[in-house]
Amino acid sequence: MTNDNAIFNAAIKMANQAIELDRNKQFDAAADKYLSASETLYDFAKFCKNSKLKALAIDKAKQYFKRAELLTNMSKKKIKVPSGGKGPSSKKRTKDERDENKTDDEEQEEITDEEKELRKVIDGTIITERPKETWDDVAGMEIPKQAIREAVVLPMAHPELFTGARKPWRGILLFGPPGCGKTLLAKAAANECGVKFFAADSASLVSKWLGESEKLLKTLFKVARLDAPSLIFMDEIDSIAGKRGSGNEGGGERRLKTQFLQEMQGVKSESDKLVTVMAATNLPWQIDSAVLRRFEKKIYVGLPSIEGREKIFELCTKGVEKDDTVDFKALAAATEGYSGSDISTICREVVMLPVRELDVSGRLTDGDDTINVRPIRQEDFLNVMKFIKPVVSKEEIKRFEEWRDEYGG
Ligand SMILES: Nc1ncnc2c1ncn2[C@@H]1O[C@H](COP(=O)(O)OP(=O)(O)O)[C@@H](O)[C@H]1O
Ligand SMILES: [Mg+2]
Repeated sequence: MTNDNAIFNAAIKMANQAIELDRNKQFDAAADKYLSASETLYDFAKFCKNSKLKALAIDKAKQYFKRAELLTNMSKKKIKVPSGGKGPSSKKRTKDERDENKTDDEEQEEITDEEKELRKVIDGTIITERPKETWDDVAGMEIPKQAIREAVVLPMAHPELFTGARKPWRGILLFGPPGCGKTLLAKAAANECGVKFFAADSASLVSKWLGESEKLLKTLFKVARLDAPSLIFMDEIDSIAGKRGSGNEGGGERRLKTQFLQEMQGVKSESDKLVTVMAATNLPWQIDSAVLRRFEKKIYVGLPSIEGREKIFELCTKGVEKDDTVDFKALAAATEGYSGSDISTICREVVMLPVRELDVSGRLTDGDDTINVRPIRQEDFLNVMKFIKPVVSKEEIKRFEEWRDEYGG
């Protein structure tokens, strides 16, 4: 408890500094302090057992956040807006300008002032940039790729093909062991279909925006509908859609999940606006069954095949000189059970080896201009592979496969 109090006091101290700076018209610095105070209070509230204190902390956190936002806007800067992530298009502007004559049917959905503010928050917390990953960056995975093409890429590129009974999937769940390319796949899909993309990391949605996360989620879907066709990607969905009564579910989390269910329902029932929700999880069995049902299409993203592994070795050593002992086929054959991210870790070690050797021998600090970096060799890979073992166990894979057999994918 004393520890908690220390956090609370630290937040109040930050807030007082912010107020002081604010008074002295040092708005940028004040905004930073308000923001830190607000985040600290949200963190505090998350673990605070005393409900009154918790409510107070959240209340204060909101106030400070608002003030930070106002100050940042005043100085014509936005809070952590990712570059190019201003959210969509000119539609938004006309929306601000319009009032009485709502002819455009896009206007049906009103955005309130509060939501306008939240929209700004969305611009700041949810990545809306078009990802740079393409299909070519994803090795193997022909089945998941094809499934995603049918589910997302084609309906968005050719809506005319998806009429009548041929309806696009609205909810797609990518599941499988960690490090096998779910996030990568989602990004590539978003890039390929070229629609508005919202990437929300569910864990931070919960922790950072405690108290506000429901509203944020609601606004996220609203904005996505306004900007349709669009794709929402919710990574690590298990953190907001856990099973009922799975222990750590508080009232806030339950409400957030309910909100999510409602939004998913809305996405399904609106036929004219194509909003697709793609989610990913390493823990499919922890997901509430009602949420699972909303994801009509489930796609298993498992360990890479031997061809996939060969390609990942290739991708992860691109642009680095290799001698002719390097044999990706042999490496792929020797890495059964390794995930894509295991292989990427191996490659990062390997490509660093020649540089490390030079550094250790002191030649990088000699001031010698003619530094020759040796090419990487097969034995580098073999040496590194002695130390880097697969992260995912056979038992875990079995659990995923059993789940897949039961739920599809
Ligand atoms: N099929 C693949 N092709 C290329 N790289 C991969 C593949 N699978 C995994 N990787 C590598 O592993 C990293 C982690 O993958 P990620 O998409 O985050 O996995 P997940 O979301 O399933 O946990 C990627 O950034 C990439 O470097
Ligand atoms: Mg991931």
